[in-house]
Amino acid sequence: MTGIQIVGTGRYIPQKIVTNDEISKLTDTNDEWIRTRTGICQRHFSEGETNADLATAAAEKAMKAAGISPDQVGTCIVATFTPDHISPAVATQVHRRLSLPEHTPALDISAGCTGFLYGLTVARGFLLQSERPYALLVGSEVISRVLDFNDRSTCVLFGDGAGAAVLKLSDSHPFTSVLGCKGDDQMLGCTNAPGTERQRIFMNGSEVFRFAVETVPHCIDDTLKKAELSPEDIDFFVCHQANQRIIASVIRKTHLPEHKFYLNVHNYGNTSAASIPIALDEMAEKGLLKPGTRTLCVGFGAGLTWGGAVVEW
Ligand code: COA
Repeated sequence: MTGIQIVGTGRYIPQKIVTNDEISKLTDTNDEWIRTRTGICQRHFSEGETNADLATAAAEKAMKAAGISPDQVGTCIVATFTPDHISPAVATQVHRRLSLPEHTPALDISAGCTGFLYGLTVARGFLLQSERPYALLVGSEVISRVLDFNDRSTCVLFGDGAGAAVLKLSDSHPFTSVLGCKGDDQMLGCTNAPGTERQRIFMNGSEVFRFAVETVPHCIDDTLKKAELSPEDIDFFVCHQANQRIIASVIRKTHLPEHKFYLNVHNYGNTSAASIPIALDEMAEKGLLKPGTRTLCVGFGAGLTWGGAVVEW
């Protein structure tokens, strides 16, 4: 089966840093509670920058890293649950701003924090019937504008940012993905509050925590089985960065070596669909992703959705 190769990554993080102490001025919380319950120390908030601004900036960096020009892009996908408009899609604005060719499809994927993992499989499918060799896949979120500072159990968790990857089909880079959904609209999501115009995140924190620590180990296992690999074959596990305690619990349950788990939630909070591509871009920058390096990315989120993918570098 034709696999995919990630040939370039990029990220764009808004400049404004919001520390836990600063969040404590907006809601009834404190640094110690946030750090011990989540591992989060700070997050970044957009100051007027739109989702399309973040997504385009990350995509530009990924294209530069890949050394490709707009006319080589045959697919443009943005995974997000915080688009600037219900329609048109953020991806269409990225398409316009980067002057991608007209015969390049552009669409958004709404799969919560699993969006980037769903996006890998969707992008591969589009590439199989594209005339041009590269797909642009971006995870981009401006979650700060849907935070409800009256709900201290959720507003401390999230941050804004975008991560992007340039993909191409490759026979020498096997790609395995496992995707799932439970069909739930109660536990986690973003909706208009009853009687108001304003969108807001809602979440049953303890139920989502339980879902994550049960689902992620199974998903890792299923992905390894489908790829016919053992844990020793994987160089890095890149979990969706929602909460350090969730990742610690996954490590305890799976007995996988802690040093193989990449962690950056302390700097960004939960950036939803952007968290995995941001992590991959940081890893690339640190020189961790050499040719032949195998990463297993695993995510979970609203829907309830989940996904795992083995990506070889
Ligand atoms: N600051 C201070 N206290 C807070 C608080 C905050 N930001 N948020 C909640 N509390 C309080 C609660 O009111 C509760 O107080 P009480 O005991 O007096 O009633 C207490 O802390 C414990 O609340 P609880 O919800 O049991 O905490 P927890 O240990 O389960 O941690 C989460 C809460 C949200 C951190 C945790 O459930 C979680 O991480 N869930 C998963 C969230 C997630 O990752 N979502 C995205 C998935 S993609």
